[in-house]
Order: sequence, then structure tokens, then C-alpha cells
Amino acid sequence: MNWDVIIIGAGAAGLMCAATAGERGRRVLLLDHANKVGKKILMSGGGRCNFTNLDIQPENYLSDNPHFCKSALSRYTQWDFIDLVTRHQIPWHEKELGQLFCDRKSSDILNLLLAECDAAEVTIEAQTTVKDIQQISSGFELSCEDVQQTTQLLRCESLVIATGGLSIPTMGASGFGYDWAEKFGLTVTRRTASLVPFTLSGKWLDVASDLSGVSLACSVTTPRKSFSGQLLFTHRGLSGPAILQASNYWELGESVTIDLLPDESLHDLIERWQSLHSKQTLKNLLAQLLPKRFVQIWLEQIDENKPVLHYNHKEIKELHDLFHQWHITPSGTEGYRTAEVTRGGVNTDDISSKTFEAKQVKGLYFIGEVLDVTGWLGGYNFQWAWSSGWCAGQFV
Ligand code: FDA
Repeated sequence: MNWDVIIIGAGAAGLMCAATAGERGRRVLLLDHANKVGKKILMSGGGRCNFTNLDIQPENYLSDNPHFCKSALSRYTQWDFIDLVTRHQIPWHEKELGQLFCDRKSSDILNLLLAECDAAEVTIEAQTTVKDIQQISSGFELSCEDVQQTTQLLRCESLVIATGGLSIPTMGASGFGYDWAEKFGLTVTRRTASLVPFTLSGKWLDVASDLSGVSLACSVTTPRKSFSGQLLFTHRGLSGPAILQASNYWELGESVTIDLLPDESLHDLIERWQSLHSKQTLKNLLAQLLPKRFVQIWLEQIDENKPVLHYNHKEIKELHDLFHQWHITPSGTEGYRTAEVTRGGVNTDDISSKTFEAKQVKGLYFIGEVLDVTGWLGGYNFQWAWSSGWCAGQFV
């Protein structure tokens, strides 16, 4: 069977690319090996899909080539996607920090993309495994196997790989895109699980485990970047938005510094309390600002519970550092099992930032997370999928 375009991977980027190319009159086949398409869209944003962000900047993305994302992000912007969402009458709201979520469910976004594909007469086939790809004079020939294990040969002029990253293998993630990029002679940068909780070991694991479920505002500093936001103690270590953001800028073996009282100076607070509430214990005073369980366990480190007036300068300095300068070296991360994204991927030096075609392989395109472009937490990764998918859709 001959097609103009075959797209492998019916996730966010693949669906967007298919609808865009179909609208141009291209005959498009969208394939996925999973039993349902767009699974990550459905599970995203806690079921409400954080589909974009009001403030999308190239600085919100990591890549060996930080300039690569600029062109696509400026040609298909967050406003274009918001416009599409509005045309489909999907109610949405801003949660915080410009993050836009569906009022109802993530399925609103998947249904939007499916409706666009339907209008553009895109053919979608799930449960189809691509066994082999050959480059031929007119484009590509794919050997595929459907759910009945029937093999079919499919031909296309343009082949788009949109198979995403490695996170959440149970949702259909695979290394397919990286493997085929290498087979076609492209390079792939080092990949790590990212936007992912940190794991701890030893004493700090015990502390985190005791505090499991407690959440507080913090700022996290890695050797490259600082983020403010919520931190969540877990049975394995640390999670929450501030930690996930920091994980994008963290390498194994590096230490991070966490300020557990980012909006106040504990030094100044204690001096103020000494003049105002001298007989109260530090524990009681701190519990007005921080979760009680956290204060109790955190102060066990200094093993003291005396009235605030009895702390001398040296002790105040120690207490200040205890809350503002928590140095830890995570033992690792929770890995692809829980990570939201894969950092690294197909080397953008090998891809045109205008068309998304491989520079050395005519007709072969890579879009979305499979590329070495990783966004921050907050709708940035979906915007990359929409922008790269739409731009490639103009050329395939
Ligand atoms: P995506 O992963 O969406 O799609 C890839 C598709 O390829 C899948 O359908 C898969 O089955 C298919 N595939 C893989 N291997 C294949 C093979 N060998 N053959 C055929 N098909 C194959 N981002 C954001 O901006 N806001 C958010 O709220 C969230 N929330 C979120 C929650 C969770 C739990 C996760 C894991 C991730 C997020 N993300 C997110 C990240 C976001 O989901 C992700 O960056 C995009 O889905 C990437 O879009 P792609 O289309 O590139 O890959």
C-alpha cells in the first residue's frame, strides 16, 4: 500500500503532525504499536493535561544545541495551540506559573487531535509493529505486523518518527526512534530519565521515609540552576515540582542544596522571636510556619527543645544553615518507571530546525520528545510536541 506520509508513533507530536499534513492534502497513515493512541496525553497533568504554558521561551528547554528549538516554537506558538483549544470549545484554566490545564479531562485534548485527524482524513492504525524499514528510490518501505500477526508492506514518500522517549515503558515507550536514528547514521546524545523524583540512601532516606507525604515550599539549587516550588518527601526520597524541575539540571554524583524556608531568614526570625516570644520553644514557633511533623523530625538533628531565648549566636547560625542549606547528594532517581521525560535524544545537529528532516536522509523526519529537546515541567514538553509536529507537518 502506498502513502504520501507514514508517521510512526501516535502520541502528541505524531497526532499533530498527521492532522497538519492531512490538512495539506497529503495521504497520511499514523501507526502505533500500543493498543490505544495518545496514552501519555490521557495520563498527563494528573488527568487534566497541562497542555501548554503562557510563557514559552527557548530558555525553558534543554538541548546540546539550545538554539534548535527557537524556530519551531516561534512558528507554532502556545497562542496557536490555545486558539485550537478554544475553537474546539474546550474549557481550560491557568493553574500557576502560566501552566494551562483542562477544566475537565485530558481526553478533551486527545479528542481534539483525533477530530483534527479525522477532518484531515488521516488513517490511524494502533497495535501495529514496524519490523523493518528500507530506504527505496521513491522513499521508504516498511514491513509491519498487525495484531493478527499479518505482515504487510507499506510504502511512503516521507517517513516521520514520533515514538517519544523512554519514560513509562508500560505506556508504550520504546527505544525505537533512537535505534532507527542510529541505523540511518544519525547520532543520538546520552539519555537519562528526567523530570523525575530523587532517591536517597542512608540517614536521609530514613528521614525522608519518616516524613513521607509531607510537602512544603522550598528552593532547590543544582550546580546549574535553582527552582522554587513544592517539595514532597517520599518513601524513596524527594519528589514534588521543585525536585522534578531540578532533576532536569542534575547529574548523578552531584550534590544539591535545598532551602526549606525560602521566603524567610531563620536568623532574623529567631532574633525577632527572642524579643517577642522569648519563653516559647523554637519548635512551637517554627510549627506556625512549617508542617508540624517536619519541624519535629528536623529539629531532632540538633536534639534540642529549649525556649527560643536560650539560643546563642553560634546556635542561631547552625539553625539557620540547618533549614536554609540542606546539602544532599541523591543516590539516583526513580528512573524511567516514573520519569515524565527523557533528557537527550536524536542529535539536533543532524536535523533541520525548519523542516525536521534528517540532513543526510531525504524524506526521514524526527519530531517530539525523541529529539534532544527537553522542556521544563509546566506544559513545555507538550508545546514542543505541538510545535515540532506542526512544523514538520508543513513539509512532509
Ligand atoms: P509520546 O510519548 O506522546 O508518543 C509516542 C508514541 O509512540 C506513543 O503513542 C507510543 O505508543 C508510540 N511508540 C513508541 N514506540 C513505538 C514503536 N516501536 N512502534 C510504534 N509506536 C511506538 N508534558 C506536558 O507538557 N504537560 C504535562 O502535563 C505532562 N504530564 C506528563 C505526565 C506523565 C506521567 C508523563 C509520563 C509525561 C508527561 N508529560 C507532560 C510529558 C509529555 O507526555 C511528553 O513529553 C509528550 O507526550 C511527548 O510527545 P511525543 O509525541 O514525542 O511522544
